[in-house]
Amino acid sequence: MDEQLLDEGAPGFRARAGWTREQASGIERTAETVAPVFYPPETDQMPHLHIWDTWLLRERDGTPATVDGYRVCFSLTAPSETLPGARHDVATIRLFYSADGRNWTDGGPVFESALGQRQWAGSALYDDGDVYLFYTAAGDEAAGELTYTQRIVGATGGRIDTDDGFELAGPWTHHELLSPDGERYEREDQSRAMTYTFRDPWFFEDPETGETWLLFEANSPVPEGSAACGGDATQQGFNGSVGIARSPTGDPLDWELADPLLDAVGVNQELERPHIVYRDGLYYLFVSSHLHTFGPGLTGFDGLYGFVAEELRGDYVPLNDTGLVVTNPANAPFQAYSWMVFPHDGELLVQNFFNYFDFAGETLDEIAELPESEQLRRFGGTLAPTLRLGVEGSRTRMLGKLGHWEIPMADESLPPTERELLSRAAT
Ligand code: FRU
Repeated sequence: MDEQLLDEGAPGFRARAGWTREQASGIERTAETVAPVFYPPETDQMPHLHIWDTWLLRERDGTPATVDGYRVCFSLTAPSETLPGARHDVATIRLFYSADGRNWTDGGPVFESALGQRQWAGSALYDDGDVYLFYTAAGDEAAGELTYTQRIVGATGGRIDTDDGFELAGPWTHHELLSPDGERYEREDQSRAMTYTFRDPWFFEDPETGETWLLFEANSPVPEGSAACGGDATQQGFNGSVGIARSPTGDPLDWELADPLLDAVGVNQELERPHIVYRDGLYYLFVSSHLHTFGPGLTGFDGLYGFVAEELRGDYVPLNDTGLVVTNPANAPFQAYSWMVFPHDGELLVQNFFNYFDFAGETLDEIAELPESEQLRRFGGTLAPTLRLGVEGSRTRMLGKLGHWEIPMADESLPPTERELLSRAAT
């Protein structure tokens, strides 16, 4: 184990692998990491909705599922008249399905009722005809006002029927699966940060061992006066981690918390929507994070960050030395967020949502001060063009993009990239 990750004052609270300040201090935009500029889609497929975090229905081995010829995805949604900043307070999980991976139909809210005051991100498993929907129950349903408690929930009972179109129906049962233990994972009452996290469950079956895991976004409880971050209290409020729980039986409802996979103590507060893609014998761990959640003295971007290790619980090293895999162009720094990587046709594809596309130099905080009509005009609130990513060992590079909402069907090969077309034209 790397010595710098050990903290004698508090054995056990640090993860085996860490994203260090030294690594993160090298973050910069490069040709390999910057996404192309996006434009609003010609027609908005879901004009009645704001749509953001999205995940595909996947098989146990992580492959995006095709159910009787349909691709299926789930998204956090809010009515399109909701102010963009307020959408998290009313988030509802909806289902979308598509027979061609391009044109999607709104299948409506998945649950009639669910745990929490609203539902945040998760993942969906298609296992032998059963749909398991893992999500974050945000807020305490018993509280009068809006609260930020987060619990990880699994809903079971969903079955898909395609006899007459497409339908996913319950009755659903909601099982509370995990909440923070206060030792490995910080509870809300321990948090000294601007936001606390225990959310975004992601199902993962390890192809090498057959073991079943659930990843999630969390924080490490850094004790006051701890030697972590050289005892610098201003950095200790930045304590993001990638949490993990193991199912001893393989049952997707039976989880035991394990030590975090990776932490970013002193580096970043939010390692959002962690997920793993296994490829060429390596484990690629991806998270989304924000410019404003990097610790003092560090400059990062809204972006997709990634790490690679030889084992699931291995010594993760940051991709591209710093961890940065995809970010937005410098002149559109908030154009997309919430990147989700999945393998297709030898490449990695990255789904993401179209966030703010018109900034005139503002920060997100400044956008929130604008007249409501301006806030709404600048917000995409739909799925962005899917990105194409090449990967080799610990290096990645942007290869181009597909269309808004494009999730190719399982047997579809990808078109040549722009770069390939240019080099063909040149010969
Ligand atoms: C990322 C995120 C998730 C959370 C959701 C809430 O975009 O912050 O971590 O589940 O948004 O809307």
